[in-house]
Amino acid sequence: MLELRNITKRFPGVIANDRACLTVGAGEVHAILGENGAGKSTLMRILYGAYQPDEGAVLIDGEARQLTSQRQAIACGIGMIHQEFMLVQPMTVVENVILGLDGDIGLRLDEAAQRISALSDHHGLGIDPHARVADLPVGVQQRVEILKLLFRDARILVLDEPTAILTPQEAASLLDTLRKLALQGRAIIIVTHKLNEVMAVADRVTIMRDGQTVRSIDPAQSNEGELARLMVGRPVGRTVVRPKIQPGARILSVNGLRVLGATGGEAVCGVDLTVREGEIVGIAGVEGNGQSQLVEAITGLRRSSGGSVMMDGRNVTHATPLEHARRGLVYVPADRRYVGSIAALGIDDNAMLGRQEDFTRGWGLFRDRRRIRRHAQELVERFDVKTPHIRFPAGKLSGGNLQKVIMGREILRDPRLLVVEQPTRGLDIGAIEYMWSQLLAVRGQGKGVLLVSAELNEIRSLADRILVIHRGRFLGELTPEDADDELLGLMMAGMAAKPGTGPMPDRPRN
Ligand SMILES: Nc1ncnc2c1ncn2[C@@H]1O[C@H](COP(=O)(O)OP(=O)(O)OP(=O)(O)O)[C@@H](O)[C@H]1O
Ligand SMILES: [Mg+2]
Repeated sequence: MLELRNITKRFPGVIANDRACLTVGAGEVHAILGENGAGKSTLMRILYGAYQPDEGAVLIDGEARQLTSQRQAIACGIGMIHQEFMLVQPMTVVENVILGLDGDIGLRLDEAAQRISALSDHHGLGIDPHARVADLPVGVQQRVEILKLLFRDARILVLDEPTAILTPQEAASLLDTLRKLALQGRAIIIVTHKLNEVMAVADRVTIMRDGQTVRSIDPAQSNEGELARLMVGRPVGRTVVRPKIQPGARILSVNGLRVLGATGGEAVCGVDLTVREGEIVGIAGVEGNGQSQLVEAITGLRRSSGGSVMMDGRNVTHATPLEHARRGLVYVPADRRYVGSIAALGIDDNAMLGRQEDFTRGWGLFRDRRRIRRHAQELVERFDVKTPHIRFPAGKLSGGNLQKVIMGREILRDPRLLVVEQPTRGLDIGAIEYMWSQLLAVRGQGKGVLLVSAELNEIRSLADRILVIHRGRFLGELTPEDADDELLGLMMAGMAAKPGTGPMPDRPRN
């Protein structure tokens, strides 16, 4: 159904794809694995007509095609879900889905909405066609992207890290959906860093390294260890040791915090929380259950409507992000593209964002370029950011490499309390291993970490205490020892509460 033959794509200073080859048949789920910056997204963008290859050919049903626009790719039956969301936030679901479609379907919104509802029901996506995208949790936005492809009847579906923001149950059901779509004769290409997903869903897996497709194998003939080794070029295991630490003084205490949501209701309904020295407190939850609003209120990015935030005994409920930063509270947001970085600025300038005043000379009048450069260089080296040079614009970094820049920036600030949201989303297994060790090092220095993550393995490996959030409330506190995947996953979906620790929710979230 699809063949990519010897695709080469060069960017200034980078060979993103180097004679890459890929063959995918109808009915096949094909996984693409590779480290951050290996060239996966670039290859997919070529397939989607967003980039033209410098060399090589794209063949569909055996015929060479010049895909010079996304419109052409769609006409050839190719649909793509990008690593970062491409939805227009102020528009509704139905407007987003029909956006860019030819013909007069755009004028028949009701009909489109009906079809969307039907598709959503059929595939169990739980989407209201009239909802405004900006009001939807990221997890639901992801499903809107899938729906968009189904609406276009794509025959070749390309998904770039589609499960990064889903709970294990949601991810499993997505993989299920993908399998079903393959059974209907579609070809599915899934880029993922999750080896268990590759093992579970893929008929074949192609491994990319430095722009080249180094191997194409049947995962049934392999195992996670071998895949990891092929990808990184050395053995990796995601096991960490969390040395025992007696937690010290209380750094953060949050009492009865309330935050209003975008649509009027409460996003955070009065939560209590403490973080002490030498402690990682994990907040597990499906995105959209108030955790973002909670950390935004704690970090001063959003106003709370009730309750208090104390830092080292001082009331900082309404402190600004800058005041927080001066007290040592720093934040890594979940959205690295639009909140965590400035795309047009280089890595060097991004590396000092939020502390520009530390990088001035001449009584604060001039920027100290030399220090900025040195700092960025240190960050790039320590966090192994793959880039041609440190002035490279952040917006052109691969997803994982950008995340490393942001995590590195905040860790290098030597914070007293590090608030991180989805810190390893999109990172390859080698980078995750490293980032985890860095977070544990922060803890080891007697600092506090508030870790918000949808990644159960991450929460269980790092957190000393785990709070599960659902619809703006904590459903109870767990230790990593009693938090198995099943229980955590169910609690995150609002379907189980630890006995005696929280309210039973009325109905599961879909
Ligand atoms: N528009 C661009 N201009 C310049 N360089 C680019 C551009 N897009 C990608 N690159 C570079 O090409 C290389 C491959 O990037 P790509 O996004 O394909 O990696 P990836 O395998 O998807 O990584 P990740 O797992 O981090 O998402 C990177 O070094 C990246 O910086
Ligand atoms: Mg990518």
